Amino acid sequence: MIIVCPKCSRKHNVSPDAVKPYIGTGKKLTATCKSCRHRFPVLVDELFAHKGEPEPPKAFKARKICVTLSKGGVGKTTTAVNLGSGLALAGYKVLLVDTDTQGQSAYMLGKKPVAGLTELLTQELTPAECILEARKNLWLLGGGKSLAGVKRIIDRKSFGAEWTLSEALAPLDRQFDFIIMDTSPGWDQLIVNVLFYAKEVLVPVALEVMPLHGLAEFLKSLGSIQKYRKEIVLKYIVPTFLDTRIKGPQSLYAQLKKLYPDTICPPVRYNESLTEAPSFGKTIFEFAPGSTASADYRKLVRIVSLNDKALV
Ligand SMILES: Nc1ncnc2c1ncn2[C@@H]1O[C@H](COP(=O)(O)OP(=O)(O)OP(=O)(O)O)[C@@H](O)[C@H]1O
Ligand SMILES: [Mg+2]
Repeated sequence: MIIVCPKCSRKHNVSPDAVKPYIGTGKKLTATCKSCRHRFPVLVDELFAHKGEPEPPKAFKARKICVTLSKGGVGKTTTAVNLGSGLALAGYKVLLVDTDTQGQSAYMLGKKPVAGLTELLTQELTPAECILEARKNLWLLGGGKSLAGVKRIIDRKSFGAEWTLSEALAPLDRQFDFIIMDTSPGWDQLIVNVLFYAKEVLVPVALEVMPLHGLAEFLKSLGSIQKYRKEIVLKYIVPTFLDTRIKGPQSLYAQLKKLYPDTICPPVRYNESLTEAPSFGKTIFEFAPGSTASADYRKLVRIVSLNDKALV
């Protein structure tokens, strides 16, 4: 388990066995940070109170959906967080995996995880220790700056590098109904790893000309992965930032519908609440439940879950 020094924020990996004898004794333990020598109290009962571990393994593996597009700022994180939290609200057990060094999924949910995907990939901690219960039914495996170092470790592997994430996440496969992955913009070894793990791809496309070019480029890259991994399919294209007041975005949406009739989803309209909600650490369902954005993401939840009664 991880204990964080309140002064210098250094994370200390402590064996649970060392502190277990103090559970329920009411005794206060004092820890000394190995880095800055700061002494601070450790509330043992709180450490063990609720670790947010999901229920026992299910008979079926989770559906693994990655939200990705190389182009930046198209609504990947917004979609991953709100789709994930919407599925959780509908009663599904969801794990949201943030594979981005920006670590914005945690920010959008108002959480500051002390451990996450980095510790899982480096095997410093067990999967249960790396995830955090962010909401009812919604667990988070946080991303962040430390993933940059992990990318270098993956790059240095002489073989099997693309399966690193799949191997690390395998123990969690049966604990959730959905594993939703947010990815960073661009193209790197971690995204390749995501595409070797996920089975379904959801691409948010901002209704502007550049992201449409970005979509074509991305589909080429996806095609090169599909040569080696037949299971991965482009399942959903979600148009984002639809501004109904102007013509341009509407005609781009019409174009997308023609080009991708089987994968196109109803659009997420432009809505200020989506920009404001993250600074309050709230999902759109918490921040503006009556907004058009909330209605659009609820619709997406119904499409992805194949459950037309979800969140109606
Ligand atoms: N439909 C929308 N209407 C208005 N603002 C939106 C909408 N979708 C997302 N936003 C805002 O646009 C910005 C970019 O969205 P987001 O961070 O989800 O994109 P991203 O693709 O994850 O970006 P990056 O590539 O940097 O990870 C954020 O400030 C977000 O709040
Ligand atoms: Mg993002």
